Amino acid sequence: MLIEPLTHHIGARMTGVDVRKPLAAPEIAAVDAGMARHAVLVLPGQQIDDAEQLAFTRNFGALEEGANSTVRNAELRLDPAFADVSNLDNSGDKLARDSKRRMASLGNRLWHSDASFRVVPAKYSILSGRIVVAKGGNTEFADMRAAYDALDAATKAEIEDVVCEHSLIYSRGQLGFTDFLPDERVAMRPVRHRLVRTHPVSGRKSLFLSAHIGTIVGWPQPEAMAFIRDLMEHATRPEFVYVHRWTQHDLVMWDNRATMHRVRRYDDLNLVRDVRRTTTRGDGPTAAQEAA
Ligand code: OGA
Ligand code: MN
Repeated sequence: MLIEPLTHHIGARMTGVDVRKPLAAPEIAAVDAGMARHAVLVLPGQQIDDAEQLAFTRNFGALEEGANSTVRNAELRLDPAFADVSNLDNSGDKLARDSKRRMASLGNRLWHSDASFRVVPAKYSILSGRIVVAKGGNTEFADMRAAYDALDAATKAEIEDVVCEHSLIYSRGQLGFTDFLPDERVAMRPVRHRLVRTHPVSGRKSLFLSAHIGTIVGWPQPEAMAFIRDLMEHATRPEFVYVHRWTQHDLVMWDNRATMHRVRRYDDLNLVRDVRRTTTRGDGPTAAQEAA
């Protein structure tokens, strides 16, 4: 197995592993070590099916269930263990411009950490490029460890114990999408997370930022959101970012505990982009809160 860094801070290309076959313990350990160090791994040329992707994902922990939390089961194109990040509906047609699912998936254009709106947020996300587009549709990753390290000492001290509230209502609301049913509002009620978290393997501190943040506990709302914007701007400076340009059969995995990501615009009304995500569950809550 060979690991070659892709930027100074974040991302590495990993070759010499065949994800279609069961991994041996040293290979799993090498992937985990690569993730702890680089936070994003790109494994090119992994032509896998859904069963192989699920089997590979299970090497790294329990699957996160209900990744498509806001899509009814009857409307799912893929096994519910997958987050369908494609622009396709369950008939395989491109999503209509004004479809609710398309509105929701436009949220992926905002910098975020997967499932930060859950009490136990995600650990790894594993995204398989089954059909990719030649123009647009890059996925960008920002290193929240490097971003934390680059803060001045006073800011680090100020945010050490800060707790934010995250919800899908906030991220979608940023794009003006406020069309939620009463039961969805209950399902999406805010959860609390520390703004600074420590990685269990690398021991490095990072900023836990995400488009899902809508408040800072105990702060006046405008001050909170102005500050979150400042931190977002800081954390996504080009020096902290790896831009992934997709090739078909790339398998890209990232550690949501140490990164943010976003997808860039592409011509989704005319082109098909079929990327499928599996996700492993994090180790626990990052902040105390009432039971979900
Ligand atoms: C995701 C996501 C980005 C992309 O799968 O969590 O945000 O490139 N996807 O589609
Ligand atoms: Mn995502």
